Amino acid sequence: MKTIAITGGAGFIGSHVVRLFVNKYPDYKIVNIDALTYAGNLANLKDLEGAANYEFVKADIVNAEEMFQVFDKYQFDGVIHLAAESHVDRSISNPTEFVLTNVIGTVNLLNAAKKIWADNFENKLFYHVSTDEVYGSLGEEGMFTEETKYDPHSPYSASKASSDHFVRAYFDTYGLPTLISNCSNNYGSYQFPEKLIPLFINNIKKNLPLPVYGKGENIRDWLWVEDHARAIDEIFHKGALGSTYNIGGHNEWTNIDLIKVMCKILDEKLNRKTGTSEKLITYVKDRAGHDLRYAIDATKLQNELDWVPSLQFEEGLEKTIDWYLENEAWLENIISGDYQEYYEKQYEQR
Ligand code: NAD
Ligand code: TYD
Repeated sequence: MKTIAITGGAGFIGSHVVRLFVNKYPDYKIVNIDALTYAGNLANLKDLEGAANYEFVKADIVNAEEMFQVFDKYQFDGVIHLAAESHVDRSISNPTEFVLTNVIGTVNLLNAAKKIWADNFENKLFYHVSTDEVYGSLGEEGMFTEETKYDPHSPYSASKASSDHFVRAYFDTYGLPTLISNCSNNYGSYQFPEKLIPLFINNIKKNLPLPVYGKGENIRDWLWVEDHARAIDEIFHKGALGSTYNIGGHNEWTNIDLIKVMCKILDEKLNRKTGTSEKLITYVKDRAGHDLRYAIDATKLQNELDWVPSLQFEEGLEKTIDWYLENEAWLENIISGDYQEYYEKQYEQR
């Protein structure tokens, strides 16, 4: 029997990790620690309500005392840390929030783990989930490996880079058993519709403009969220302590090509004449400091832990589009309320 804390479990990736662990490991107790910010939504985990090995705790990782109390109460054996402020555009408008949650919040969790484990680290593990954005931006050639030098450009990636450094510092200084993974862009069900793919599905459906930043030439490497959750499971159970694993799908797309594929799929699904949705494409002012290209080399993960993505992108994208079309109530519930205000502010200046 193990008790595992998963932070940020009510968010996009966190909810998939919680679901995987609760269903796959009935003899683990999974405690989801989440503050339920705008991005956290318990509806993402509706199917787990009543599961015997699952518990939700509403708590804020920025509050050190509260974190210590939660850790003291549950005496966790392991931590999988996903709670974060995660949207680059929001980090440009409000960088301090990102320092508080992503840097201070992570340090609070490291301290709480170190304290309850009282320097007896046998069979304990602190796993920090991070992003490929810490490596900065690539030109046309090359890929990020685990050895690539950190070079973050946005307040979001700078705060994630800082949190990664703290996790490594706790391994080097105190011997805290840690692991880090850096993953590329995720897509799939339950993603908050401020991110490219769910935002554009919703706008296409509603015949709203599709705000493409700059010329749409930026490149992202897309991975299906359930494959990320599978990788986290492998790394949590078999990763070499103190090390880092890159996770990615070898699946690079320019934004504009990806958007055109989405338009085509949605034309078919919504019974529109081919080319109708593409007319919604609107080029808007570029994101400040917009990274040109991300691409992950996941060879280490494949060689050491035998992980490869399970889904081809075309299949994953279609599945994802179907999910958003079928889960209209989930989407509408988010889009009502504060989201509208964010959307208007974010896009009126462009
Ligand atoms: P998300 O924004 O969907 O969810 C974040 C969750 O953290 C929410 O449930 C929110 O309520 C919670 N949270 C935020 N602040 C908190 C606080 N102070 N205390 C407790 N809970 C808090 O994010 P996501 O896209 O699921 O990303 C999860 C993690 O994975 C992040 O650490 C992110 O940096 C990393 N990551 C994301 C991607 C991606 O493509 N989305 C790719 C690589 C890595
Ligand atoms: P996003 O989903 O915000 O992820 P990230 O910035 O972490 O990669 O954006 C993905 C890409 O899509 C990125 O290059 C910015 C671009 N983008 C737009 O062109 N328009 C939009 O409205 C959004 C949200 C993103």
